[in-house]
This record gives sequence, structure tokens and C-alpha cells, in this order.
Amino acid sequence: MTDRLPDVADPAAGAPPAAELRGITKRFGPVVAVDGVDLVLERGTVHAVVGENGAGKSTLMSVLYGLHRPDAGTVLRAGREVRLRSPLDAIAAGLGMVHQHFRLFGSLSVAENVVYRAEPGRRGIFDRRAAEQRVAELSDRIGLDVDPTARVDTLPLGVRQRVEILKALHREAEVLILDEPTAVLTPGEVDSLIAVVRTLAAQGTTVALVTHKVQEVLAATDRVTVLRDGAVTARLTTARTTAGEIVEAMIGRGLQPAVNPRGTVSSDPVLEVRDLRMAAAPGAARVRDVSITVRAGQVIGVAGVSGNGQREVVEAVLGLRPVQSGSVRLHGRDLAGLGVRERRALGIAYVPEDRPGMGSAATLSVADNLALGHHRSPPLAGRGRLSPRAVRSQATELVRRLGVRTAGVSAPLGSLSGGNAQKVVLARELHHEAPLLVVEQPTQGVDVGAGEEIHRLLLDHRARGGAVLLVSYEISELRALADRVLVMLDGAVTADLDAADATEEVLGAAMASARSAPRPEEGA
Ligand SMILES: Nc1ncnc2c1ncn2[C@@H]1O[C@H](COP(=O)(O)OP(=O)(O)O)[C@@H](O)[C@H]1O
Ligand SMILES: [Mg+2]
Repeated sequence: MTDRLPDVADPAAGAPPAAELRGITKRFGPVVAVDGVDLVLERGTVHAVVGENGAGKSTLMSVLYGLHRPDAGTVLRAGREVRLRSPLDAIAAGLGMVHQHFRLFGSLSVAENVVYRAEPGRRGIFDRRAAEQRVAELSDRIGLDVDPTARVDTLPLGVRQRVEILKALHREAEVLILDEPTAVLTPGEVDSLIAVVRTLAAQGTTVALVTHKVQEVLAATDRVTVLRDGAVTARLTTARTTAGEIVEAMIGRGLQPAVNPRGTVSSDPVLEVRDLRMAAAPGAARVRDVSITVRAGQVIGVAGVSGNGQREVVEAVLGLRPVQSGSVRLHGRDLAGLGVRERRALGIAYVPEDRPGMGSAATLSVADNLALGHHRSPPLAGRGRLSPRAVRSQATELVRRLGVRTAGVSAPLGSLSGGNAQKVVLARELHHEAPLLVVEQPTQGVDVGAGEEIHRLLLDHRARGGAVLLVSYEISELRALADRVLVMLDGAVTADLDAADATEEVLGAAMASARSAPRPEEGA
């Protein structure tokens, strides 16, 4: 009995759990995001909260952090019921949360961000030295290497995340909630985050680690709670479970290894990028003599730490950013001078990384999002008029075929989870069989089940002769999908590997050296 994780704390068993959720239910209109969930976070443990996208992980953690008030259920902190009306109450109760999108001030220093609204200064006077000292102490304590004086907007994402963690620790969080912290990290950064999380737990901090990556669960955590459709489907002890067991609880079936049905690669290039050069600009990396060829039936992966020119190359192909020299050709036709719309009309489909910004409109319905860009031509429009019936029936069919979880095709896209919204954008882009698909980070923030489906859609597209330019920071994704993998470093292609040679070690090393290279701004 004692080695079982109890559903509800037994006060006789010793110290109460660090935090506990009992019978939590949270609805958003008709959607029951969290449905009667019990969760016990024992002191000094790392507790994985896993589940497919839309399973209710963020909602549950937001309840624990006072961001959402539950429709039913209670929150206990160290055995006592707490009423969390806002994150301020949660912070006062010793809870901290690092969100997927960081909430730091880019123009301020690390120390200023860490102590913001909890400054160690006297009588409202900011004491910079005390703040910097405090950050240095905190980072030493958990083995973080963070310069307290650095300006946040000069730091890579992995370091910014550490700043968020330090900020929670400065406010004396005893329970730290990390919502999908590894989604933005390189493989090396993931390893250091795991080390930090383990150190925190060893020092008595309780960590709730939200993730959908099973390897991370196995490497970093003590306990696992799996959610599906807002309810708990498994409570596991990490040391006594397997990847298969976790995945099955997440998606309700065994994981099918993605078969990689290679299509016939034709010799005709679909996309030819030649000697592309682009100047560095504020917020944009330079690009140096990049050449990429993508043929029909081929997926070319572009690897590298983000910010090494991958996004800029994509923007040059799409016609979103001017180039200094070099050319972009589609089926032999030079695209110079053509804008985004014209390029799309010629057959370039695009699934951007920044989905809400460019690929979709959160306030429009699922059906309208599926129609975007195709609303002037048959079958959605006839004689220049859009047919709402055609839009709805196309949407209903695509939603069914792709298993998109939504309250209905007229629900706003913004109400869907990331994985489901991503499927909508991908469905729209694949539906028209454009000869070239450019896709960035197709499974970022997407759970195992949806990620598997998205991979299958991309591989099917390739098998039908589609050409795909794939930018990804996930080595496993590149290996699963790409025929060749190019590594970008400081704006140049520094490695061009057959997928079979692109091992975790080789790519990881190439990406890690990219990180230690001088930043483009400093180099020029
Ligand atoms: N603010 C919100 N308004 C409406 N629906 C929401 C909101 N937040 C989450 N949901 C819905 O609740 C469900 C659970 O979402 P979420 O907790 O974000 O899942 P996860 O973090 O596991 O991906 C999803 O169906 C999502 O669309
Ligand atoms: Mg989430």
C-alpha cells in the first residue's frame, strides 16, 4: 500500500503533500476541459502531467496557479485548503509557474526581471547590487549559469526560461509548475533543464512538469499523471512504468511506429534555392550563400538552433523578405519580384511556425480557416460568390478525416488546442496538393497522438509526389520525416546529410556548436 500513490492524501501518513487538487472540474462553455481530476504532488518530487493536446493539462495547472477558478473542486497547499482568486494568491501560497510563452521584459536585465515586483530594495529604491547578488545566489544554488546583468532580449530561449525559473524561486515558490518547458529547447538545453529540475526536487522543491514527450517523463520525473479528455487515465510511478504504458494511457492505443513510405523521387527539382544571401536586420539573422534543392517526392529537413537563418530562408522562398542576391525557382521559374499571393498561386503551400499570426485567424471559425485563401474559387465559390454550404461541408469532411477535436466547424479556431489548430492549418494547406509545401515546426506543442497523425499526413503527401521543405528543431522529427537533413549555422548550411547519417549525435553536435558560435549581431 505504501508504495502506491494515494489518490487523496492520508493525513496519518506523515507530512501532507505539497499541493493537492481534489475533484477539479473546469468548463469553457460546452467544453469540459477538466473533469473531476484529483492530483497529488508530493513534496520534493517531480510529477509529470502528460496527455495529448487538449487533454486539459494547461487548464488544470492554471487552476493550481489561480489563473482559472474551477467550477468544482478544491486546491490544497501543504494540507490546507486555499482559495486562489488570482496568481497573486498562488504566489503568496508558495506556488510558481513558468508558462510556455515567457512573460519577461526584453529591455530589462536578468536581475531586474527576476526581482520585478518583489524588489529587495529599501523604501522603493531599486537596489541593483542586491538584486544581482540574489540572482547569482539563486542560480548557484541550482547550478544555473545565468549572467544577472545580461539584457533579456539578447539571451537564447533556453536561458530566458531559466530566468523565469529564477523569478519563481525568488518569490520562494515551493511548488513550481512548468508548462511544456522543453517545447522551445534544443536537445542540449533539455538535458540541462532536466538536471535543474532534479536539483530542485533534491532540495525539496516540488515540480509539476507538463510535457507530451515520453522520454522526458522517463528521464526527469518520479510520478506520472496521465490525462485524456480532461480526466485521469493513469497514475504511475516512473521507475515502474514504460514508454508504451504512458503512451497508451495518453492516446488510448499502442503507438504505431511511423512507416516511412518513400515515394519515387523524380529528378526534376520543384524548389531550387541558389546562393541565397540576405542581410542581417533587427530581429532577423543573415543568410550566407544558401543553396537548397527539393525534388518531387522528397522531404528536405533544415535543422539547427533557431535563429540561425532558417526562418529567413523560408521567408525568402515565400516572398516575405527581400534577398540581397541569389535566386529562388519553382519548377524552373524564377520567383524574383513575385509576392506572397502570386507564389502561393503558383503552388507553394505554407504552414508557418507562428500559427496564430500568419497561418490562421483565431477569431474565425474552423470552417472559415479551412477556406482561407481558397474562398474565391470552386468548389467553395461559384461565379465569384462564396457558398457557406460548400465551406461547411468541406470543413465537416476535413475535420472528420483528420480527427480534429472541436466543438464544431463553426467554433472559433482559437478555442481549439494547439495540436488541433495545427491539424486545421495543415489540412487546408495539403488539401490542394500544392507541389511544394513549406512547413516549420509542424508538431511544436503538439501531443504524441496528434504529432503522429501530422507526420503521417506529411509522409502521405510525400508519397503522392509532394515536395516538402521542413524546418524543425526536433531531431527525432527530422529523422522520422526527412530524406536529407541540412544543418544551418550562422546563416550558412554547414552540413548536408543523408537522413540515415543524421544521427542524434551528429545533428546534436552540429546544433550545439551553432549555439557557441558568435551571434550574428556581434560578428558583423
Ligand atoms: N480559455 C479557453 N476557452 C475555451 N476553451 C478552452 C480554453 N482553454 C482551454 N480550452 C479548451 O479546453 C480543453 C483543454 O485545453 P488545455 O488545458 O489547453 O489542454 P492541454 O494543455 O492539455 O493541451 C481544449 O479542448 C481547449 O480547447
Ligand atoms: Mg497546454
